[in-house]
Amino acid sequence: MDVSDWVDARNGFIRGEIFTSEEVYQAELKNVFARSWVFLAHDSMLKKAGDFIQNYIGEDPVVVVRQADGSVKAWLNQCRHRGMRICRADRGNTRYFMCSFHGWVYDREGSLVQVPHEEEAYAPETFDKADYGPRQVPRLHNYKGFWFGNWDETAPDFEDYIGDFKYILDSHIDRHEGGLEVVGQHRWIIPANWKYNAEQPSNDSYHAETSHASALTVLERSRKKRREEKGEPDNRVSMATRAAAARGKQFSGGFGHGAGWHEMPEGAMRYQAELPATMEWEDSVRDKVEERLDPYRNANRSHANLFPNFMMLANGTMRVTHPRGPNEMEIWAWTFAPAEAPDEVKEEIRVNVLRTFSAAGMFEQDDAENWLEEQRIFRGYMARQDPLVYTMRIGDARRGLGGVPGIIAPSVYADEGARGMYHHWAELMSGDSWDDIARRNAERLAQVPHAEADNSQEI
Ligand code: FES
Ligand code: FE
Repeated sequence: MDVSDWVDARNGFIRGEIFTSEEVYQAELKNVFARSWVFLAHDSMLKKAGDFIQNYIGEDPVVVVRQADGSVKAWLNQCRHRGMRICRADRGNTRYFMCSFHGWVYDREGSLVQVPHEEEAYAPETFDKADYGPRQVPRLHNYKGFWFGNWDETAPDFEDYIGDFKYILDSHIDRHEGGLEVVGQHRWIIPANWKYNAEQPSNDSYHAETSHASALTVLERSRKKRREEKGEPDNRVSMATRAAAARGKQFSGGFGHGAGWHEMPEGAMRYQAELPATMEWEDSVRDKVEERLDPYRNANRSHANLFPNFMMLANGTMRVTHPRGPNEMEIWAWTFAPAEAPDEVKEEIRVNVLRTFSAAGMFEQDDAENWLEEQRIFRGYMARQDPLVYTMRIGDARRGLGGVPGIIAPSVYADEGARGMYHHWAELMSGDSWDDIARRNAERLAQVPHAEADNSQEI
């Protein structure tokens, strides 16, 4: 699909049509979601043989199942008989899955093993159960306990796909030797296009000091009060301080991945809220985490999106934003906590996410209000004519700036992440082969000056 009338991302040119058009949406299901690596499950959700969960790649439901030999399979959750959903439980443990429409039975591998009245109903010479298993997700990859799936046999291998984003991804999922575990799950629907919730963690810290002003003020007041009560200094840099808020960097990866982070002055508190057990425990394991990552990544945690729709925030929220038509997204969010942390810390992390980034979270509601207003307004005709402004810090990014791999903008306030995301989105939407897209991507990255070649950039 030619989207060049609506998107010229490298020049910061994007029109509202891409958030509302049914034609664009149908092309996204085919060209973006059916060709990209999408998060499916975490090892902690599939501990023993027969454990399964449901998830989606785009609008296609899949079942992810731990096999008897410890491997994992994922298959389209659609009965071959009439197209009904085979597995209707969100998660569980089973040997067999029976379709609740006419009773066809599939095993964990997704093979059709029983058909009611098979002998009388189907001619043996034309009907072989082996032909009617659900479609398998052909590409699965386990990256440090996180399972990703891809329908496209021609897509790059997962590690090539993430590229420089490995630096970001590891900072979220590989901080602790014992890994992560799920301590909470939330799902909700927002009547707005899925790309808003992909773009924002890729790119947009700029909104926080305005959109989240009230929530930040509430958290800061309660933190200050508790600090006063305890007679301890409050050295957290206020988000309301604009100079401090803009300090940081933004990451853009080759295949649409993005991230941004504030840089905290030495010794500053990382949390807006008071999380005493978490802060104390993190202090106790700081050396280990810094050895595993590095002091810079430990101190400056990002918000990030692994294209197309796997979002990570520093507080432990990780979520998949499922598309539900051009005008709706369904968010499946999990709260992850370090598996080796004390229960008190896990509970504090769970409650903090509940308070901030769940369906009822203070920050989540601010974000959703913006997105659904945008969506309503883009229903207008004139509202879709003028290009939106994605030009912040255009031309300022450098490869490897500050020693960080990828294309790095010299401020957390930039649109580099969004330009990278929509550029790759448009590349996929073209329907060109992954080989061509990967080649052009490498050429594009090579054109970005390396930080060492231009030392005029402020860090
Ligand atoms: Fe599944 Fe008929 S649709 S058995
Ligand atoms: Fe926000």
